[in-house]
Amino acid sequence: FSQFPENTIVQRPIVAAHRGVPSLAPENTMSSYRLAYDLEADMIETDIHRTKDGHLVTIHDSTVDRTTDGTGAVTELTLDEIQELDAGITFSKEFSGEHVPTFKEFLQEFKGKDVVLLVELKGSGLEEQVNEEIQEEGMMDKVVIQNFNLESMKKFNQIQPKLATGYLFSAAVPGSYQDKLNNAKELVDYGTISNVTLNASYGSLYSEFITYMRQRGMLSLHWTFRGEAPFADKLRAGLIGPITDYTQWLTHSPINL
Ligand code: G3P
Ligand code: CA
Repeated sequence: FSQFPENTIVQRPIVAAHRGVPSLAPENTMSSYRLAYDLEADMIETDIHRTKDGHLVTIHDSTVDRTTDGTGAVTELTLDEIQELDAGITFSKEFSGEHVPTFKEFLQEFKGKDVVLLVELKGSGLEEQVNEEIQEEGMMDKVVIQNFNLESMKKFNQIQPKLATGYLFSAAVPGSYQDKLNNAKELVDYGTISNVTLNASYGSLYSEFITYMRQRGMLSLHWTFRGEAPFADKLRAGLIGPITDYTQWLTHSPINL
């Protein structure tokens, strides 16, 4: 690191590429995921919905309207109908021809590669099928499942106790924080500490939370870093796992503390 100024402390957080690298490529597309991998993200985040004919696809919204040239709810479209849509053109012409990937395609792309997949369940009742597809690919130790829905994560722990699960929460309003932390603790008690992550929003990074996680040696991932200042303060306070739209800033730049 000799090119960095003398007072620079280089600290490399655990970087989770949020929907791939949506600052450089269309979110939740294979191009975006591959770019995240090429940029050496530690984790690649994605979102899962199920199509009308029962296929799992990686897309954030419950409709295709924002990210493709089509319209309609994912649950009302078949896989063929969804994959005919262009998932790159709304980002830029350069990416025209991208499609909405299946979850299988996403898994298979990174099978055997040195990256962890952070899979957020968006639709409801997806736990069994998501688990089955991960088993089929033999990628149990390469995936963390996460959800804002605590019951879904408990269910996942029941179906597949060996798979790591994460409880997503936001408690940016201090008054709501204790409730969320209690939920989080409930999941920790329910699963095993070693395979549960608690994934708080940026505004929820209270010192009590950081202390709780550190005392247990647990990983916490925080969403979504989009360049908010002061990032260095968050790192000093104990942030270790930003989920970010800007993987390129965090894996290839020094962070000056
Ligand atoms: O990884 C957590 C984060 O993605 C949750 O928010 O809306 O981007 O899925 P959202
Ligand atoms: Ca997500």
